[in-house]
Amino acid sequence: MTTPTCEPLGSADVERCMDLAERVGWPRERAKWEMIFALGPGFGIVGAGGALSAMVAFPRHEGASFVAMMAVDPAAQGRGLGRALLGQAMRRPGQPLMLYATEEGRPLYERLGFREVDRASKHVGIPTLPSGWTAPGAVRVATSSDHAAVVESDARGFGVRRASLLQLLSSRAERTVVDAHGGFAIRWSNGHVAVVGPIVARSEDAAIALCDAAIVGAPGMVRVDVPVGSPRVAEHVRSLGLIDLGVSPLMTWDQGPLPGARASYHALALQAFG
Ligand SMILES: CC(C)(COP(=O)(O)OP(=O)(O)OC[C@H]1O[C@@H](n2cnc3c(N)ncnc32)[C@H](O)[C@@H]1OP(=O)(O)O)[C@@H](O)C(=O)NCCC(=O)NCCS
Repeated sequence: MTTPTCEPLGSADVERCMDLAERVGWPRERAKWEMIFALGPGFGIVGAGGALSAMVAFPRHEGASFVAMMAVDPAAQGRGLGRALLGQAMRRPGQPLMLYATEEGRPLYERLGFREVDRASKHVGIPTLPSGWTAPGAVRVATSSDHAAVVESDARGFGVRRASLLQLLSSRAERTVVDAHGGFAIRWSNGHVAVVGPIVARSEDAAIALCDAAIVGAPGMVRVDVPVGSPRVAEHVRSLGLIDLGVSPLMTWDQGPLPGARASYHALALQAFG
């Protein structure tokens, strides 16, 4: 087979990226795609009729890129297209790579040298806070003057500075809460689902308090992705009525041990961004 060449993808390609996403059974998440291309480039392979046969994107942080939305058209899977695209594209970001893999994607990433370093579980549903719930005294709604501290706290917890991502999240934020110890949680709109994350806090109890304070008033579906190192946070969001949709491995390439104070990182921004 001749090696297919990959072409750059960007915000002008959101529609056809969503078309391919739909063909592999993923929802059309316009807001997420716009954020992905605001943070970094994408690459694709175009099929005979001009539609995308394969795609991958690299939302970029300050010191590591994520690999997101890797997909091959079902009609073209199993023929080396995914490996050809990712193999070519992953040299471009020029920094260590991280990704959350599906079970289907995992063999491809292992072939290309990615290794599992952590796991996170995804929870989705309409949450119900206990009746009579009141915000813990240590938690308050953030103002714009808290933004810089939130960026620094996120960098300490996640281990890589993500100022651009946090700017995008704050522009989509429905509610941001902070505590007195540098902890924070953001509830932001990803289209029809509100995501609660990141949550950075010095303990699981503090993370749970922030999570509830971020959730309060959510008008519908909520998603919270929790690293396995925070089992009580995961148990708590399940107790609010969110359904556990399974665990995804966090894999890295060209990266030593995971950076950051990971014990304080209790919920992801989204699997596409870490
Ligand atoms: C995952 C996906 C991108 C792989 O693309 P693909 O073009 O079908 O994969 P390739 O044909 O390039 O195969 C890549 C490697 O993985 C291996 N592989 C693929 N599926 C495998 C499986 N089920 N078990 C073991 N190995 C597997 C292949 O043998 C190949 O290794 P090799 O080159 O050493 O033989 C594609 O299946 C897909 O789009 N799936 C749905 C969306 C998805 O889950 N994306 C991943 C998001 S993290």
